[in-house]
Amino acid sequence: MTTNTTSDNALTNNTEQELRARYLEIAEMAGGLAHEIRNPLSTISLNLGVLREELDGADTPRDQRMLKRLTAIQTECDRLEKFLNDFLQFTRVMELNCQSVDLSEFVAELIEFIKPEFSRQNIEISPHLGTNLPTVKLDEAFFRRGLLNLTRNAQQVMPDGGVLEFQTYLADDRVILEIIDTGKGIPENVREKIFDAFFSTKTGGSGLGLPTVRKIVEVHQGEIQCASEIDKGTRFRISLPIHP
Ligand SMILES: Nc1ncnc2c1ncn2[C@@H]1O[C@H](COP(=O)(O)OP(=O)(O)O)[C@@H](O)[C@H]1O
Ligand SMILES: [Mg+2]
Repeated sequence: MTTNTTSDNALTNNTEQELRARYLEIAEMAGGLAHEIRNPLSTISLNLGVLREELDGADTPRDQRMLKRLTAIQTECDRLEKFLNDFLQFTRVMELNCQSVDLSEFVAELIEFIKPEFSRQNIEISPHLGTNLPTVKLDEAFFRRGLLNLTRNAQQVMPDGGVLEFQTYLADDRVILEIIDTGKGIPENVREKIFDAFFSTKTGGSGLGLPTVRKIVEVHQGEIQCASEIDKGTRFRISLPIHP
């Protein structure tokens, strides 16, 4: 009986290791592929820019038609570039370099960074950051990137302005961060899918923003949840374990 359990465990470990190795291999290949496409794409994009400049102020119908086509190609190139960047971010194997961090200070810095752009779009930032919270263990670069995905989504649902609230507090021995917008909200049938890779309701959206956020939160032993009310707004809640 005991022998069986041991060999079962050995089998599970082995399979887990194998799966992990295979995942790493696929992630590496996908990343390599994205890089291979991204480099020539940026050359294409650069040359398109030059061609469009040459046609700037075109006055013959032929040149105008050409300019229009080049602009359409450029739009698609931009979309592909954005998609590849999101894809690279999503497939990246995260090797964390963690530090003990005061989440409120971390969020305050992030707010300083995004504030100018948000205030230009009439989005008021409303921070409610707890003081003297226990520290959490964060890879600041990855975590910042994750939060920026959330704030970018919020920015996109408040094109005519609104309020973006940040809360940090302690609950049940975990440190909580909530990011709350006053955008259009998410219908329930959509909310079920928002963390699925490639799911997007935006034209040209990669649908990789939230899956990437979730991945980043989970490698920090955290959890992320979403609550939303139509025409009121959306709340993302991240909880992180305390780091003694
Ligand atoms: N703050 C938000 N308010 C309303 N809808 C949101 C918000 N954040 C995400 N969503 C919904 O979740 C979908 C997936 O988001 P995401 O993974 O970031 O991909 P993308 O931004 O490329 O669409 C979005 O297309 C949108 O429908
Ligand atoms: Mg997004």
